[in-house]
Amino acid sequence: MPESTAIGPASYSAILRRSFRKAFPPAVRGEGVYLWDARGKQYLDFSGSAAVNFIGHGVAEIAAAMAAQAKQLEFVHSSQFTTPVAEEYASELIDFAGKNFAGGCVYFTCGGSESVETALKLARQYQVEIGQNKRHQVISRGQSYHGSTLGALSVSGNKRRREMYLPMVREFAHVAFPYCYRCAFECTDGCRNCGQEYAAELEKAIEAAEGEVAAFIVEPVSGATLGAVVPPPGYLQSVADICRRHGVLLIADEVMTGMGRTGRHFAVEHWEVAPDLLVTAKGLSSGYAPLGAVLVSKRVAEAVAHGSGAFLHGFTYNSHPISLAAGRAVLRLVQERRLVQAADSECQGSMAATLRQGLESLRDAKTVGDVRGIGLLWGVEFVADKTTKRPFDAQLNFAGRVAQASMRRGLLVYPMQGCVDGIAGDHLLIAPPAVITTEQIDWAVKQLREAIEEAVP
Ligand SMILES: Cc1ncc(COP(=O)(O)O)c(C=O)c1O
Repeated sequence: MPESTAIGPASYSAILRRSFRKAFPPAVRGEGVYLWDARGKQYLDFSGSAAVNFIGHGVAEIAAAMAAQAKQLEFVHSSQFTTPVAEEYASELIDFAGKNFAGGCVYFTCGGSESVETALKLARQYQVEIGQNKRHQVISRGQSYHGSTLGALSVSGNKRRREMYLPMVREFAHVAFPYCYRCAFECTDGCRNCGQEYAAELEKAIEAAEGEVAAFIVEPVSGATLGAVVPPPGYLQSVADICRRHGVLLIADEVMTGMGRTGRHFAVEHWEVAPDLLVTAKGLSSGYAPLGAVLVSKRVAEAVAHGSGAFLHGFTYNSHPISLAAGRAVLRLVQERRLVQAADSECQGSMAATLRQGLESLRDAKTVGDVRGIGLLWGVEFVADKTTKRPFDAQLNFAGRVAQASMRRGLLVYPMQGCVDGIAGDHLLIAPPAVITTEQIDWAVKQLREAIEEAVP
């Protein structure tokens, strides 16, 4: 198996990898927080791959549940059948989502982007069902990521990931986003009051669109693009209120933050916000199978049920029984092992609180400008100058250098660039499985500190 690649017809892999320039070690095994490559090198998965794994790698019960489902019934098409696993799991997820989704229903897909596409189309259909045919625009935030399919990309604000495809996507308004470390309102009160100002920008954009807005999509805690930015108090509540007043659906994109990652079943619970649609993936199956879901509130479900009676959308593999068996077994394990509690950084003595403390200790490093996050989702932002918050030159790829130095030490982190203006700004995302221990956190933070020092040019 070729590890490294050079550009040239005979020398690259048969896989179209993410990069022709980077070496990818072949991974062969996982257990708990660890992964091993074909050479036997061990890695501590401090980012849960990309905030995917929540229950740990190599859990035999999940593989057994998937195998049992495959033996019993591998697939049926959702236009012809439903399945026991789909019905039971959907009910369990609705229960897990709590009162916001009571009486609602679930649409299963194969991942985050498919779920975002589904939510965008369902929002549009809802508006048509209730006679609001004009409403088709979806507003999103300037620095955001909602997926890589063209619809999801059109509502994403991640410059690096979308710029080349811009001529192919339909553009709607992107509004300002709270980012307290670099607050646009230059708050001097620790951003206790700017939430309303950011929310007001959404209201302006809705009004400017003259009755054409169908939905607003938001990551309750910003994921990869900004690096675990937690909104200021009151922001999400105001956003929800504005949406409701203007007949705009609120879509919470919890692909990264859902299913316990932030120490609540879903991140919106921190702010007691009730979205109309909630998109989730990643931790839903913890990576054991491709799986995503859209939780649909009663109001939206009823509009379709009592209106045209059919959702005009579908993928061959929605509600795939083997993926659902994986997701259902993951949900059972999350509850049995109380992993949402382990991920609650506000709860003293939890693994998330230990992680927060460990990462906070990095603040004294010369290049660490900010440490932020919630639960088991954290961002570490690097700067060339701590006083002015000047970022590194993007060409240096400082976050990538830290990730490479970490990997050499057997530590996996998730590097990103662009948090300052879409191009400049380096940060890491840290999102370990909830089964991580105090000793493993201590070891990981020590390696990370050394890697950060090594990356300094
Ligand atoms: C917030 C958010 N939405 C959507 C997506 C897209 O999900 P997927 O990569 O599973 O298609 C991601 C992926 O990172 C994400 O973080």
